[in-house]
Amino acid sequence: MAQVFRAAHMVRDLEPEDIRVLTGIELGMRRFEFVPMDQISYYSRILKSETEYRLNKLHKLGILQRNSQLGYVGYQLISESYDILALNTLTQQEIIIAVGDLIGRGKESDVYIAKLPNGKECALKIHRIGQTSFRQIRKLRNYIKNRRHISWLYVSRLSAESEYAALQKISQLKINTPVPYGQNRHMVVMSLIEGKLISTIPELENPEDILNQILNQIETLYLQGKMIHCDLGEFNIIITPDQKVQIIDWPQWESSDHPNAISYLTRDLSNINFFFRKNYHVDFDLDDFLFHLLE
Ligand SMILES: Nc1ncnc2c1ncn2[C@@H]1O[C@H](COP(=O)(O)OP(=O)(O)OP(=O)(O)O)[C@@H](O)[C@H]1O
Ligand SMILES: [Mg+2]
Repeated sequence: MAQVFRAAHMVRDLEPEDIRVLTGIELGMRRFEFVPMDQISYYSRILKSETEYRLNKLHKLGILQRNSQLGYVGYQLISESYDILALNTLTQQEIIIAVGDLIGRGKESDVYIAKLPNGKECALKIHRIGQTSFRQIRKLRNYIKNRRHISWLYVSRLSAESEYAALQKISQLKINTPVPYGQNRHMVVMSLIEGKLISTIPELENPEDILNQILNQIETLYLQGKMIHCDLGEFNIIITPDQKVQIIDWPQWESSDHPNAISYLTRDLSNINFFFRKNYHVDFDLDDFLFHLLE
């Protein structure tokens, strides 16, 4: 069973005190790589004896990492326990009520179908930075540099927060991207986009029109949203059945005020130009486009 489904079952089966202990470890992990028992008791506001009982239970369930090589016994959340905490909050806040099939697996995320309280389907993107690869997220670099230990839980949360902030900003621009419904920890809930990645479509019906839509979106984002996607390419563009462009995958976006903004923008544009030139013998004048955009 996929980790997230086990986590969803646990959310149902665990007792509130178990969740509080997990939250206590999460708080403690800001200071400790492995959180000592008495700190967990303090953060979760549960008596030590009870905390000890809960920790043993959670460890037996396989959702805590224990380390006794430190001169004390310390505990750490693992990705499944982090999933439990995020799902617990998202369901308590009635943002989603169920998790369904896996629909996409990126380099640094798993994307599932989930169900909204009104019964409609949505997308649940679970950021999992640092477990497999670690694509450097520029925004996080400075932060990471200044920390003695940084957990991937924290980095994944920052990544989800950044993506959610982007989707919220974009939703005011009336251009096509997933609509954000909610976010907690490393999970983002957004509208489910019907369609196919442009990279998997054998032959676009009207490549010129699609290219124009993409360029218009880049322009609106830059001029009105002051945003740059920074990871734009054929793997992050969905074409809907009615031939509309939807740009996904936003955690690495940057503001147009960033010192390297022009170089990020140029890279996004080159990726698009390269893809269309190679596959459809269609392209645009990049310098010209930039010149008009920046004037
Ligand atoms: N809102 C959505 N609606 C439908 N499908 C989605 C949605 N968001 C993501 N997906 C699917 O999940 C896949 C992975 O999503 P996304 O590109 O956002 O993650 P990622 O881990 O950053 O990917 P990568 O790093 O490989 O580009 C996408 O290729 C797409 O197929
Ligand atoms: Mg992607």
